[in-house]
Amino acid sequence: MIPFSKHSVPNKVKKIFEEILKTGWFTHGKYTHLFEKEFKKFTKAKYCTVVSSCTAGLHLSLLALDLKKNSEILIPAMSHTATAHAAEYAGLKVKFLDVNKTTGNIEYETVKKNISKKTKAVMVVHMNGNSCEIKKIKEICDKKKISLIEDCAHGLGTFYQGRHVGNFGVAGSFSFYPTKQITTGEGGVVITNNEKIFKKIKKLKAFGIDKDIRDRKLPGKYDVKMLGFNYRMTELHAAMGLLQLKKYKSFLKRRKQLAKRYILNFKNFSHLRHAIYNKESSFFIFPILTKSRDKLLKHLIKKKIGVSIHYAKSLPFMSYYKKKYKVSKNKFKNSINYADSNISLPVYPKLTIRNVDKISLEIKKFLSEIR
Ligand SMILES: Cc1ncc(COP(=O)(O)O)c(C=O)c1O
Repeated sequence: MIPFSKHSVPNKVKKIFEEILKTGWFTHGKYTHLFEKEFKKFTKAKYCTVVSSCTAGLHLSLLALDLKKNSEILIPAMSHTATAHAAEYAGLKVKFLDVNKTTGNIEYETVKKNISKKTKAVMVVHMNGNSCEIKKIKEICDKKKISLIEDCAHGLGTFYQGRHVGNFGVAGSFSFYPTKQITTGEGGVVITNNEKIFKKIKKLKAFGIDKDIRDRKLPGKYDVKMLGFNYRMTELHAAMGLLQLKKYKSFLKRRKQLAKRYILNFKNFSHLRHAIYNKESSFFIFPILTKSRDKLLKHLIKKKIGVSIHYAKSLPFMSYYKKKYKVSKNKFKNSINYADSNISLPVYPKLTIRNVDKISLEIKKFLSEIR
């Protein structure tokens, strides 16, 4: 069996868990602080705060913008439902945009065309670890005085012209769900270069309490000035993240080697499509597109090869959003096609080149024979 994902949490974590159990310091401790410090170092962001999930981070980032209820936000039609849900939690009105037919990413021209007087924010996603046209999107957002938030759930190790994603918009939120480049089980982090936004997100993630636990003169003495949440991360989760992040440069190198091998194996094979190699991608997965998606998916599962789909239905056509926004299929031809034809192939440090060759061979054999 080749699993779709395999974590790389170092064994050393057990020692840290023992230490945490001994001290009883489960939250607000040194590991959340160390993880944040390491995350800032890796992404070169000025500020960073760990949260309970990427979704929580997106929710808080949007709340920190202080937009009026029902303000319009542009969101790619191809993403995890969390992207749009976060906007709904924040009371915003979602306008979905079609995506590039090969990368699944939101495009600058589409953003530009859809900005109107009603548009107050744009949320981009760096699909599959491949950055969208973030620089140009940021420029148009700045020009039109629109806030930009980056959903970086797939984006740890993703750069755009040498700058880590999450640093272009007002804030960027990352996910540490088990299939992600590094995992804390559940968890996320928000980065920003804006001190005011950082302070607001930090307060909102801990009930809106005005004083950090270390800044209180007397225990329990604090005030609450806003309706915050409990979106904190525990020390155990942070320790897992920290240990993986310390090794992430080598993980990233490996991810790129594996992606290059898939590309080499599929060279001159015309029965599937994939995006061209991008050295700044972090290859969250390796996506391929084929008209025979469901048949191939079943075949690979039969062959005990772990695969997935990101995503099988575009967001405007999920029942909740379909009922609420009633959009026409004509406007989402690329997203619908992408949803019907994509398969995510595994990419993780423990995957071997032999595994990649086996997966590629099975795919090539199957797609050649069913034609
Ligand atoms: C693009 C995207 N955004 C947001 C999320 C939500 O992340 P989390 O599960 O950490 O809340 C995911 C989850 O996989 C995702 O793929």
